[in-house]
Amino acid sequence: MAINTIIIASDHAGFSQKQALVAWLREQAYQVNDLGPEGEGRVDYPDYAALVGRALVAGNADVGILICGTGIGMAIAANKIAGVRAANITDPVFAALAREHNDANVLALSGRFVDEATNRSIVETFLATPFSGGRHVGRLAKISALE
Ligand code: RB5
Repeated sequence: MAINTIIIASDHAGFSQKQALVAWLREQAYQVNDLGPEGEGRVDYPDYAALVGRALVAGNADVGILICGTGIGMAIAANKIAGVRAANITDPVFAALAREHNDANVLALSGRFVDEATNRSIVETFLATPFSGGRHVGRLAKISALE
């Protein structure tokens, strides 16, 4: 399945990288739904993880992207929502593996500790890499059974 629609949000720590990523993704003709925040004021990352996770499992996008200081809190919060498989990624190789082995549907990025160019490369890899299927399908079913 080719990825066309992306739903994205951040907290204050991920805000500036979110703005840059949204513009860059739109330049490449992805359909991007930015769920906020709209400014740099302090917000709580679980609120935005919930917005993206719920919209994603409702079928409103192919994948989600979340950005906080580390990406850790966003991933922990998003993974509370049944159907979300969020991966906190700081390296393009892991972006590919999160898609190939885990069929990750939410990418959680660090806005404070990973630079913009590396995050772009992570996003590019994540969006371009398909799920491998095969032996991984049964493992994902076991994850779903935990929900
Ligand atoms: C906010 O200070 C910070 O805790 C948050 O952006 C994130 O890194 C949490 O995991």
